[in-house]
Amino acid sequence: MRLIFFLSGEHPELAREEVLGLLGSYGRIEKLDEDEQILIADFEGERKVFERLALTHEVSQFFASCEFEELEDVFREVPILPGRICVRVRKIGKRWENLSSLELERSLGAVLWRRGAKISVSKPNYVIRVYLAEKAHVGVLIHKTNTKQFAERRPDKRPFFMPSVIVPRFARALVNITGVKGMMLDPMCGTGTFLIEAGLMGVEFAGVDVFRKVVFGCAKNLKFFGLPTNVIWGDARNLPFKDESFDAVVTDFPYLRATRSYGEDLYEKATEEIWRVLKEGCRAVLVINVDADDLFAQFFEIEGKFYQRVHKSLVRRFFICKK
Ligand SMILES: C[S@@+](CC[C@H](N)C(=O)[O-])C[C@H]1O[C@@H](n2cnc3c(N)ncnc32)[C@H](O)[C@@H]1O
Repeated sequence: MRLIFFLSGEHPELAREEVLGLLGSYGRIEKLDEDEQILIADFEGERKVFERLALTHEVSQFFASCEFEELEDVFREVPILPGRICVRVRKIGKRWENLSSLELERSLGAVLWRRGAKISVSKPNYVIRVYLAEKAHVGVLIHKTNTKQFAERRPDKRPFFMPSVIVPRFARALVNITGVKGMMLDPMCGTGTFLIEAGLMGVEFAGVDVFRKVVFGCAKNLKFFGLPTNVIWGDARNLPFKDESFDAVVTDFPYLRATRSYGEDLYEKATEEIWRVLKEGCRAVLVINVDADDLFAQFFEIEGKFYQRVHKSLVRRFFICKK
């Protein structure tokens, strides 16, 4: 099935990786085109997996891509679906600032109406989506992400809180990039953001942290979400697991100077341990605030690297690593 993914404007590149990583693990996906926040791909697999996506706003079944001026022609060709239809336009980028979405929706709706479609703006059975990026992309909406859930799980709403943690929406996307179906490890789990997102998606997980207080706090957070308290007190430099025990690792290294207090060798030793406990062919998503390319490349194939500026003195690097 050919699909249009309308990606989050906050980080379209990471959103694209999430789609490809997750759907590639649950089916077969082939990227066909990209246009700003739009990704067009062929996907064969269960649609149910769309429910896991965090950085995708919507998924639509593809009808056509065209120039803006060709939209009415395309609407003369799109299949007339049974039931009530409405047209909704989503403008992406500044170039469409002066365009009235409402007028365009009306004129395109009128084309369908003249072809015999039943139009209902308030109670449609189908929404025909028009995404205006550099080109226009037309499809029928089949999935909308519940973004409210992420606000409800904000880190400061949990019983145990630490500042500067990754927000749940990004945490979920990073877990999904690994494509994990089996068991995921976070060897420096802190308050448990990655574990919570994995657990809520039905992924089995284990967490480790070097501070007892943090381990108890993380367990409290997991309990708060009704998840098993699979978190242990340990050191990421010497993990208490056999080789190749995990299908994915997602972790966020301690930032900046804080690292020194846990040993100068944390980055090196923890990276080696992550590599050791990960299964062959599986992925680790490693978050760090320095350019650790050389270190990670000693152990992994680096499949991708993305930046996220949090504030003046914190730029996160997301490394997608494959063993
Ligand atoms: C950036 S925080 C992780 C935040 C986490 N992603 C969360 O959701 O809260 C880094 C964590 O690494 C832990 N840590 C530092 N050194 C460690 C070590 N040697 N072994 C395991 N955990 C360690 C710290 O206690 C801290 O909780």
